[in-house]
Amino acid sequence: MDKFVIEGGIALKGTVEVSGAKNSALALMPSVLLNNGINKITNVPEVNDIFTMMKLLNQLGVAAKFENQILTLDSTNITSQTAPYEHVKKMRASVYVLGPLLAKYGIAKVSMPGGCAWGPRPINLHLEAMKKLGAEIELEEGYIIAKSKKLNGARLNFDISSVGATGNALMAAVLAKGETIITNAAAEPEITQLAQFLVSMGANIEGIGSNILEIQGVDELKSADVENIPDRIEAGTLLIAGAMTRGKIEMTNVNSKHLNLVIQKLEDSGANLSYNNSLIALDATNIEPKNVDITTSVYPGFPTDMQAQWTSFMSIVNGSSKITDTIYLDRFKHIPELTRLGANIEILRNSALVKGVKKLKGATVMSTDLRASASLVLAGLVAEGTTEVLRIYHLDRGYQRIEEKLQKLGARIERVKTQEF
Ligand code: EPU
Repeated sequence: MDKFVIEGGIALKGTVEVSGAKNSALALMPSVLLNNGINKITNVPEVNDIFTMMKLLNQLGVAAKFENQILTLDSTNITSQTAPYEHVKKMRASVYVLGPLLAKYGIAKVSMPGGCAWGPRPINLHLEAMKKLGAEIELEEGYIIAKSKKLNGARLNFDISSVGATGNALMAAVLAKGETIITNAAAEPEITQLAQFLVSMGANIEGIGSNILEIQGVDELKSADVENIPDRIEAGTLLIAGAMTRGKIEMTNVNSKHLNLVIQKLEDSGANLSYNNSLIALDATNIEPKNVDITTSVYPGFPTDMQAQWTSFMSIVNGSSKITDTIYLDRFKHIPELTRLGANIEILRNSALVKGVKKLKGATVMSTDLRASASLVLAGLVAEGTTEVLRIYHLDRGYQRIEEKLQKLGARIERVKTQEF
């Protein structure tokens, strides 16, 4: 088991390269089940969720090779249509194999994911979409068993905009007979990227990037290559680290368009930002950061995956701020831990009411999930003295060696082996 030991108080300075997006790669990878051939995905981050998806695909018969951020997936010999509990319990995104397996092989047996670290996170929308496309769905011993001879195009109107359900429905619809229209589709960059990859395999999709996707099913798809998008959440997390430590940092391999609102909120906090297509620079030296409220919402709104990090930021600025999460109403596991470092935060329904304190003080805190852990690392960077962040396996699921990136920017952060749990 590893932990981070952080000595706070250093203003970050320098340039760092952002890794490829975890959540985009996790959608691209299972889509290769729709073809028979060798697919190449570049700019893939070396994080544990990617290794979990590789193992799952491998179990289904996909031969995978991962070197220098290049993932080669050969889907020629699929031997199984079962996603076992062993993998799904580790990572909910395993459910992404449902749509492609069902569409291509007429059957998918996928373990139900169960709850996640902060709440229930249902998959009802994924299942309803498969049913509308003509699948019969049963639940047996904790497994979803979905069957269909040939899926038929349908109108899918999602009550809630869901990244996962849109991705799954899209992967099923591209091989369904006839037309499928998805309304209230997720328009997150990860879904746009998936749709573009499917098009390069031969799929027929209109409305990419919008909330209405129109798909004309095709009989078969061919293998393809794709360059994965940069990780907007990793970039945003590092930008907040720069702002919190009143540093001056520059990030390469980013897509600043994916971060429009985050950039604006950082500017509202007083930081100076400049950017072009693939670079973002932030200068927060000699700035007294200001309190800025945020409300998370679907893209292009403020991402829920940056709510915890923003809360951490606001905990040390002068004044009060309100952080509201409209995507996950109960994603606040980081707050008791931030409080251990001296933050003053109250939870009221789906909002965190933050009263900024002059300084945080180092302590031992515990990671509970990926983004909560990131918020604790950020707090450790500004806390007086030493902060130890335990259970950083949560961070390793989604940030590629974050400590190395922070070290490159001058932070005093070390990964240390520990017996503590
Ligand atoms: N929802 C339902 N029913 C469903 C599916 C979703 O009610 O069948 C609800 C969820 O409970 C939530 C809302 O819809 O309230 C949106 O959830 P969504 O389906 O969009 O989330 P997801 O696809 O399960 C992805 C990311 C998450 C990110 C969310 C929201 C991946 C692998 N995961 O999850 O990323 O928080 O979208 O943007 O893409 C993370 O990286 O830390 C992470 C949790």
